[in-house]
Amino acid sequence: MRPKPPAGTELARLDEIPDPGARAAAWEKGAVLLVRRGSDITAWSNLCPHAGLPLTLPDGRGLLHKGETLVCPVHGASFDIEDGRCTGGPAAGDRLVPIAVKVTGGVIRAV
Ligand code: FES
Repeated sequence: MRPKPPAGTELARLDEIPDPGARAAAWEKGAVLLVRRGSDITAWSNLCPHAGLPLTLPDGRGLLHKGETLVCPVHGASFDIEDGRCTGGPAAGDRLVPIAVKVTGGVIRAV
């Protein structure tokens, strides 16, 4: 289990996240994964429920397929970025742990 950011924690600027795309926030060594589609951001604890490893590459990038499916770089489990549900691969039946965020003035903060 990775730590959850306290309410109000600044995680990133919106323009730091590719659109569409996914990137770990710098907070707590990448403990939060931010996924962007346009102005919509979803955030997840950056741990794959399969083997408890990061969902991001060593440089912090997340792998987003067709702008809607997050793919774990370790063994290829896929996750719906709307609800965190595993949609294929070795984490079937599991889901990502959501982190509540909001975007205000181009800044993504925990709520
Ligand atoms: S650690 Fe993510 S699929 Fe195995």
